[in-house]
Amino acid sequence: MHKKLFIPGPVEVRKEVLDQMAKPMIGHRSKDASVLQRRISDNLRKLFFTESEILLSTSSGSGLMEGAIRSCTLKKAAVFSCGAFGKRWHGMAVNNNVQADIFEVDMGKGITKEMVDNVLKTGEYDLVAVTHNETSTGVMNPIYEIGEVIKKYPDVVFIVDAVSSAAGTKVEVDKIGIDVCITSSQKALGLPPGLAICTFSKKARERAEKVPNRGFYLDLLSLYKYIQKKDYQYPSTPSISHMYALDYQLDYILNNEGLENRFNRHLTMARVVREWGKKYFELFPEKDELLSNTLTTIKNTRGISVADLNKELGKRGFAISNGYGDLKEKTFRIAHMADCQVEDVRELLDNIEDILGL
Ligand SMILES: Cc1ncc(COP(=O)(O)O)c(C=O)c1O
Repeated sequence: MHKKLFIPGPVEVRKEVLDQMAKPMIGHRSKDASVLQRRISDNLRKLFFTESEILLSTSSGSGLMEGAIRSCTLKKAAVFSCGAFGKRWHGMAVNNNVQADIFEVDMGKGITKEMVDNVLKTGEYDLVAVTHNETSTGVMNPIYEIGEVIKKYPDVVFIVDAVSSAAGTKVEVDKIGIDVCITSSQKALGLPPGLAICTFSKKARERAEKVPNRGFYLDLLSLYKYIQKKDYQYPSTPSISHMYALDYQLDYILNNEGLENRFNRHLTMARVVREWGKKYFELFPEKDELLSNTLTTIKNTRGISVADLNKELGKRGFAISNGYGDLKEKTFRIAHMADCQVEDVRELLDNIEDILGL
């Protein structure tokens, strides 16, 4: 039996989107490929509210996260972490011989603008990396406020992991001042995994020009230069199937559902889950202002077996996520992202109540 996924990626993918991936191939050096990839970039600019160039990579989001920190750090990166994915970004820097320091807050807390300001005041750093939506804790960081602070430091390149938030909540890249904003196909965009997407500003490009040894496959500058020269074709063979699906889905998001409606739907679903979580358990993030719009991490205050709950849900055709890493069994996570509807979320919660006898 197929289980409806309420995990924070991969997500449920609409049948029409899956069908796009079964379409016959076109040559990646054909004019049709250029037209397809150009249209995708144009539409992604609308989704990210940016004039920046868009880069696609046939990898998961981690690929472009690694590429961004390596391609755009000249002096030293300041990585701000409030959970597993922030830590991972720092690990990527270290493993690429990129100078980087990590600034952490306890799980459940958010990154503050004061924290970022204090670190940048030292003048030691020329890149800031922030996780917008920390999928392990369900914390959504105040990215607009953080962006305002970073604007005081014009030499600092700002890179953001919006892997589990973009397309589910508004991330206005140019207004916030983000130089590289990264997402993955398998989260709020509602596609299968396998494609990473990022924005790439002029400032990020100028920085990368000065950075030696940017790697090869994930060198953001070489991707940028290639698509300029070759009319949006990529240096390596891309996943054309993902491109079809993305093109189709972007048209649906922008012209059928509408961006604002999509963001509002995510917020409505989030509110339903938060209310439920507060009624029967507690929410993990320390403050309501930090609650994510795309997934909710719930404290297991009743001491239930999350694994058993998920087993029972599985028999009924649903899947949620256990807590991440050390938070396993101490928390559980319900994702409400991509094309899932409020009724789907309610159905899931009714089933959880029934199984737990709430
Ligand atoms: C916040 C965040 N960052 C990064 C990643 C890594 O993305 P990917 O699995 O697409 O490489 C994830 C995946 O869950 C995530 O949730």
